[in-house]
Amino acid sequence: METRRIVDILRNAQPDESVTIQGWVRTKRALKDFSFMEVNDGSFMENLQVILNPDLPDYENILKQLNTGASVEVNGILSPSPGKGQRIELKASQVKVYGEANPETYPLQKKRHSFEFLRTIGHLRSRTNTLGAVFRVRNACAHAIHQFFQERGFLWVHTPIITANDCEGAGELFTVTNLNLKEMPQTETGEIDYSQDFFGRKAYLTVSGQLQAEVMAMTFRDVYTFGPTFRAENSNTSRHLAEFWMVEPEMAFCDLSGDMDLAEEFLKYIFKSVLEKCPEDMEFFNKRIDDSVLATADNIINNQFERVTYTEAIALLEKAKRKFEYPVSWGLDLQSEHERYLAEELFKKPVIVTDYPVEIKAFYMRLNEDEKTVRAMDVLAPNIGEIIGGSQREERLDILEQRLQAQGMNPEDLWWYLDLRRYGTVPHAGFGLGFERLVQFMTGMGNIRDVIPFPRTPLSAEF
Ligand code: 4AD
Ligand code: MG
Repeated sequence: METRRIVDILRNAQPDESVTIQGWVRTKRALKDFSFMEVNDGSFMENLQVILNPDLPDYENILKQLNTGASVEVNGILSPSPGKGQRIELKASQVKVYGEANPETYPLQKKRHSFEFLRTIGHLRSRTNTLGAVFRVRNACAHAIHQFFQERGFLWVHTPIITANDCEGAGELFTVTNLNLKEMPQTETGEIDYSQDFFGRKAYLTVSGQLQAEVMAMTFRDVYTFGPTFRAENSNTSRHLAEFWMVEPEMAFCDLSGDMDLAEEFLKYIFKSVLEKCPEDMEFFNKRIDDSVLATADNIINNQFERVTYTEAIALLEKAKRKFEYPVSWGLDLQSEHERYLAEELFKKPVIVTDYPVEIKAFYMRLNEDEKTVRAMDVLAPNIGEIIGGSQREERLDILEQRLQAQGMNPEDLWWYLDLRRYGTVPHAGFGLGFERLVQFMTGMGNIRDVIPFPRTPLSAEF
């Protein structure tokens, strides 16, 4: 018989249907006349309650094996549940135990564990209610992202993970090499000779797929890339990972205002779609993790985002009746406390800040007429701060070359990127959404390490 997923049974199945399920025991209780257990197969927050009667073949022996964490297959007949909390339950006619889990050593017994503890058992933590819900919502976000772009005719392009360029120019790159670290070849001047390395040059893990997405946008107009990106920034915060996923749309014939419109429509779409697809998981977050999760989702879907320039934002921060740890002054970058003040306290909704000073932004952003600011935009979200970073790109060859030089970069290293400005250049724009920050925002989870299955952070790459 075909196995049914528990989400389907709990949502759709009727009494008297005969079903087979497969999953893992969450709890078991042995009573005098019968026993029951809760089984979860990852498809749903709720467990399926299974009734075990003593006439079951090998009852006593099977019962001993049904500990929390054991893997099972159950055949039986569904019946209305007389107990509280569930509509339907499964009366087992046959139970097969695939693998036991020793209760003396299995770390996930039925009690609340801290997220810190769960991080030390990264290979088991997805079996908990909270992490289970996180990864289902994460999946629904990813699905909604593809759906959003595919519905709008964007081409999904796959940009490389290994690259020779530093897209953000921030020097936060991991080097990729297969040179013998004990005997690095040297040039005549005593530097490491990367011409003898695998790629014949220095190579890195990418910090962003943007530069290659721009290449593809010059053919296909609207494209997006969605993949892992890597940053060797040594920031041990609840919002930074060394390996994170980024969604980056890039649009030809588009300016900053079109870019902001897309970002806003995009976030609204994802929230709506996840609420429709995972209502039980979202209820759970609202009840158990952060009681503003559903109100936040409603706020995102139904309100227009605020839009202010960087210069206006600085003025607002200077007027704030509140002390900041970091100074506020035109020319300095916004710190996360400033971003959160704007989104959380002042506007109480996402804020798009535009036109940042040229000195604090990447070389590829389009220079404004004032020559002091660039056509950048950051979307700041309550509780998170920067969730999206984007810009209209510099499409003018001469200015782009000057910007590269001003930032101490060598234009020759990006000859192919500059060629896009030589041949059929066009105004274009795009942005990057930090996928884990989105999942954090959506679920109210406090630490970014708990919204990615296997977090990579400074000094931590177990599992
Ligand atoms: O603002 P960023 O650095 O922008 C770019 O990389 C552009 N090339 C994107 C583009 O225009 N195509 O990064 C984009 C987003 C940030 O807004 C943030 O949400 C996320 O990526 N992000 C991180 N998320 C987790 N851990 C980190 N260390 C992150 N650094 C950036
Ligand atoms: Mg940024």
